[in-house]
Amino acid sequence: MSFISIASDATVKTRFAVNSWGLLNRAPATLRIVADNSPAVVRDTGTITNLLEREASLKMLTGCLREAAAGIGRIALVHGEAGIGKTALVEAFLAANRAKLRVLLGRCDALSTPEPLGPLHDIAFQMDGGLLDLMRTADRRLAIFSALLRELQESEQTTVLVIEDVHWGDAATLDLLKYVGRRIRPVPALIILTYRDDELDGRHPLWSMLGHLPSDATRRVGLESLTEGAVARLARVAGRAAERVHAQTGGNPFYVTELLATPYGSIPATVREATLARAVRLSREARALLEFCSVVPNRVERWLLDEAASASSALIDECV
Ligand SMILES: Nc1ncnc2c1ncn2[C@@H]1O[C@H](COP(=O)(O)OP(=O)(O)OP(=O)(O)O)[C@@H](O)[C@H]1O
Ligand SMILES: [Mg+2]
Repeated sequence: MSFISIASDATVKTRFAVNSWGLLNRAPATLRIVADNSPAVVRDTGTITNLLEREASLKMLTGCLREAAAGIGRIALVHGEAGIGKTALVEAFLAANRAKLRVLLGRCDALSTPEPLGPLHDIAFQMDGGLLDLMRTADRRLAIFSALLRELQESEQTTVLVIEDVHWGDAATLDLLKYVGRRIRPVPALIILTYRDDELDGRHPLWSMLGHLPSDATRRVGLESLTEGAVARLARVAGRAAERVHAQTGGNPFYVTELLATPYGSIPATVREATLARAVRLSREARALLEFCSVVPNRVERWLLDEAASASSALIDECV
């Protein structure tokens, strides 16, 4: 498997090219890993997984939920690179608290022609007909926004409203989140937004939405890669040698899971697809740079990029 890194002048290592992907709907792993000494989490997909090194993040979400249940609305931003475990964290949190909550879940998709308010359609189907009818008939978007807010305000149970992958959110969804976010303080609800923070350049529209959220009501839950110890534990459970798994994957749980589920020495099809799905979105110049890097064994040094590929920082940024 070719997990390529570049070493910058400051020898900061950045995983290159395979750490995120775009249009892909990942196939579920054929094997899920069950580690030995943390509580099992049953996923909606019916598979079982355990989360390693996510205690602090779960604690932060639980704290937000406690405040929401006391009528102090909260927004939790769960962010990190592709495959870092955002969905798994939210699923684990919901599974642990489902009995106490009403959950409304919407997803943004990487569609080429996104529908306005895509995730709100998911949510409207989970509520009784009012919002769906309104979405079909209302000619003013504000009427739809305020209907959702009212639904959260008037609910007898604390609501957790999850919108997944808001880096793909359509403009109307981002407006909706600004609107509801700015009014969340007195509402018994927790809004959880997940996003890939490695896919946002400085002009990404998500920044505007995030910048409008009330800072006192917003909590950030940034997810980091797994440590060598955690990766070794997963390898042990999968009956595989831990050697090189951390170096090859950078501790990204998706790569670790897929690598360990694949016969030794072969490249997981899911990782290959993920890499290609990301690569097709690159500009021609960035794609050429990526192909240049792919033939350099192991790590690509910055001087080599400068000398052989005349790579600008912008091109490198596009690939990373
Ligand atoms: N802390 C963890 N410990 C062990 N396995 C994990 C952990 N976090 C995630 N995983 C596993 O890694 C894989 C990827 O996780 P997940 O789909 O949640 O990533 P993601 O950040 O939501 O990715 P994407 O950006 O594509 O939405 C899943 O198989 C999940 O079970
Ligand atoms: Mg996810």
